[in-house]
Amino acid sequence: MDTIVLKIQQEEKDREKLRQAAKILRKGGLVAFPTETVYGLGANGLDPEATAKIYEAKGRPSDNPLILHISRREDLVPLVKEIPPVAEKLMECFWPGPLTLIFKKSALVPKRTTGGLDTVAIRMPSHPIAHGLIKEAKVPIAAPSANLSGKPSPTKAEHVMHDLMGRIDMIIAGPASNIGLESTVVDVTSAIPTILRPGGITYEQLKKTIGKIEIDKGIQEDLKETFKPKAPGMKYTHYAPSAPMTIVQGPRNAVIEKINKSTEEYIKQGKKVGILATEDNVKKYSKGLVLSLGKRDKPESIAANLFALLRQLDLEGVDVIFAEGITSDGIGMAIVNRMNKAAGHRIVQV
Ligand code: TXA
Ligand code: MG
Repeated sequence: MDTIVLKIQQEEKDREKLRQAAKILRKGGLVAFPTETVYGLGANGLDPEATAKIYEAKGRPSDNPLILHISRREDLVPLVKEIPPVAEKLMECFWPGPLTLIFKKSALVPKRTTGGLDTVAIRMPSHPIAHGLIKEAKVPIAAPSANLSGKPSPTKAEHVMHDLMGRIDMIIAGPASNIGLESTVVDVTSAIPTILRPGGITYEQLKKTIGKIEIDKGIQEDLKETFKPKAPGMKYTHYAPSAPMTIVQGPRNAVIEKINKSTEEYIKQGKKVGILATEDNVKKYSKGLVLSLGKRDKPESIAANLFALLRQLDLEGVDVIFAEGITSDGIGMAIVNRMNKAAGHRIVQV
């Protein structure tokens, strides 16, 4: 299949291009597009044949449900059975933006879209290109991250081209995603709303807005052996670079010492070592390929860089990766979650 690459910088000036893309979506095709979190791979979410193509293009397990993306608040109503008051509050505060809510689905939403579940995930992106495209398409757009299943989510158009060129109808090549991690997924069907995936909206922000909020036991590092994640997607290996990655946690100097020592040992064996260091520490490593995650006191920068760096390490062909541990408050919870998965939960405490 020939993939059209549509370069576009701003929604308003490029209405004609968005119309062209929306037409492909309405005809049952696949279009990748930028959002504020990561690039998405869109299809008509109400057309089971169209959503089936998403699973095929990504190599995604069919039990992993898709998020429906809408552009207007009223477009939510036909897709869900009920809207709990707590959801109203969350939408008021965080839509449009990086928050996905899980509702009981209406009969309109095909089970192919929800991985066979009776619930449906819905999000309203704030990105002008995503917003404009969904509005033009006039149907809810099912869109997982636009990467091959298992690979880091794409934060730049070039990542999407690398993974999906020739497999989908169109790629809208816009600017890099500014948040860089996926949306927070919150289940509002449970008695107490529950975070199923940490993301762009933080635990602290949610707690401040609605008071009571839980974190799914299946995604907590110390409980994940006992509990199964409620979001099917959270059980799969993800974001994994080709080389094995180890996260080193502990006091600053001990972490640096440990990574330097291990790096030297691997280099002696003729291996190529990649190091993901915070900007504060990059100069402390003299050997290996050292990449800066961003500043510790600016975790948003780390969130924005992480997936691109994991992809870069793959392209550089490193044999082994060491990463400094990050604190897990604020957006840090989402960063730590993605890093732990990328590392297959190989975490060393020094
Ligand atoms: O930021 C994002 O959310 C991006 C952009 C493109 O919007 N999309 C994204 O989609 O990350 P995806 O498919 O890569 O991740 C969706 C997550 C998966 O972990 C999936 O299992 C979970 O949401 N999910 C979707 N529907 C669900 C449902 N009904 N119940 C529980 N979890 C659900
Ligand atoms: Mg994904």
